[in-house]
Amino acid sequence: MEFYPEGLLFSDELQYEIKSRFMHMDTDPGYGRRIFFENAGGSLRLKQSVQTFSEIGAYPDCASRRHNRATDLKRIEKKGLNNARIIFNAKSGQLHTTISATRGMFNMVGTIAENVPGKNIVTTVLEHPSVFDAAKYYCKKMDIELRVASANLQTGGIDPEAICNLIDKDTVLLVFMAASNITGSIFDVDTIIKGARSVNPELYIIVDFVQHAPHDVFDVEELKIDGANIAPYKYFGQRGYSFSYVSDRVALLPHQRVLRPGNESNWILGSIAQAQYADVSSIVEYVSWIGDHFTKDKNPRCLFETGMKHIHLHERGLLHRILFGGNGVSGLKDISNAEPLFYNGDITCKDLIVPLRFKNISCPKAVDEYAKRGIIVFERMADSYYSMRPMETFSLPGVIRVSPLHCHSIEDIDTFLEATQEIAAI
Ligand SMILES: Cc1ncc(COP(=O)(O)O)c(C=O)c1O
Repeated sequence: MEFYPEGLLFSDELQYEIKSRFMHMDTDPGYGRRIFFENAGGSLRLKQSVQTFSEIGAYPDCASRRHNRATDLKRIEKKGLNNARIIFNAKSGQLHTTISATRGMFNMVGTIAENVPGKNIVTTVLEHPSVFDAAKYYCKKMDIELRVASANLQTGGIDPEAICNLIDKDTVLLVFMAASNITGSIFDVDTIIKGARSVNPELYIIVDFVQHAPHDVFDVEELKIDGANIAPYKYFGQRGYSFSYVSDRVALLPHQRVLRPGNESNWILGSIAQAQYADVSSIVEYVSWIGDHFTKDKNPRCLFETGMKHIHLHERGLLHRILFGGNGVSGLKDISNAEPLFYNGDITCKDLIVPLRFKNISCPKAVDEYAKRGIIVFERMADSYYSMRPMETFSLPGVIRVSPLHCHSIEDIDTFLEATQEIAAI
């Protein structure tokens, strides 16, 4: 695919169709028109996801029976598992279902830490507590060292060397996020993995894709990693479940499972709701529908991959507009008193998550001012357990996190920028 440093927007026609597939896109039914730019905290939901979730959830039937409805539900389950594999491009390994991405991460980190000999675990200072606390908890439990890579204060990401310099022959596990949920910086996952394995070829590696997955494609086979996870509620789907991937070698490590013979590599503990399997299919079918506009190849992974790549390019176009404006509307870079953080000119290593602050008004007050103008954003503050470590690292009291989604249009961005002009002039 061609390189588009400033992104590539969907056609107006496709943009319109995309918008029409989301629930409560422009309006909250109780509170009126609003623009939802808080998708990093939980994304706008697909209508298809909402509809099938309640439709399939209504059936009482157990999928392992023989009657018609039960066999239908079994088909939905199989299809959901296949579709989840498409998201990860998992041709090998096992899927692991849990109630949250954090639960899945603790299970993967714990299984490796408890079973693989070694003396340290490496992670980064920017991690969400789901990774950081899992690593810390199991380091304490196994009496091994926790090594934490520092951030690059200019890019808001982590340089590969900062991680690789901490790896040695005794590293049990490297666990890190693919992109920061606060700065939007995409980590150079490929270079990190190659660098780390050049020091320790047998190293176990888990990547947290919760924040990055809804913005771009990834491939566990190509990366040759041992674990990865996603959270469907940040991925246009429902809250309350999560899928993780574990490699064949992790799948076979002793882990909590039903002890049925022949079940040694299985990581699905108990029965998750059929509605959740239907939900993951809604996500994959939607992304593949976008992909179908851009490729003639009907291979399921190719359709999905093409869809995600175009989502990424459209979002890059929106990011460019937010920062640099256009058509007579000033971008954040040109609004005095507004300060978008961690931009050094190159937006190709950013997801559509913009950390912002104002010189004239505090972050929580600015969030309230946006809300008065019908725009929902959120502040990530140093006094919140969930953003404390990154904020301390960057010596910031907090930032406003602006997180639109690919279903937004240039007009939505311009409305946000006009509100920003007003707030900057308060
Ligand atoms: C990067 C990252 N990883 C993991 C999680 C945890 O997801 P969950 O709340 O589903 O456990 C989040 C949630 O915000 C996140 O942003």
